[in-house]
Amino acid sequence: MSLKGIDQILKKFEYRESAIIAILQEVQEKQNYLPEKDLEYISEKLPIPLTRIYRIASFYNAFSLKPRGKHIISVCLGTACHVRGAPMVLDRLKLELGIDIGEMTEDGLFSLETVNCLGACAMGPIVVFGKEYHGQMTPARVESAIKKYKKTSKE
Ligand code: FES
Repeated sequence: MSLKGIDQILKKFEYRESAIIAILQEVQEKQNYLPEKDLEYISEKLPIPLTRIYRIASFYNAFSLKPRGKHIISVCLGTACHVRGAPMVLDRLKLELGIDIGEMTEDGLFSLETVNCLGACAMGPIVVFGKEYHGQMTPARVESAIKKYKKTSKE
């Protein structure tokens, strides 16, 4: 994101130190993660110590300090999903995407993450593509799900 873009966000929140979480949320929303240079700029402009910004960014799960793909794929590894085969689904995703947990594909389309129970255990194993829940996921269904998201990304 350009510094001009960051300035617009800071202006929107009137450069208020108390709005730091909302500011970080907007930056994250635009880029799917919080780049180091943006955090340095925000720290300088507000001003808030950079260490404090990093503390906030690492405390909340919604923030990521590493680049994330356009589509975040989250595999539930809670007990119910685990016993219903989530580890095999995860292995297939790793294989299809060529990445490990916490990584992003080279084309920037996908990131792979795991979560512990999404509260819909009866539908397990569950994989979330962005905001879309896919219940009763199987390794065989992984390929078609990925294809679908690749296709929608081109449209
Ligand atoms: S264990 Fe996966 S939704 Fe509960």
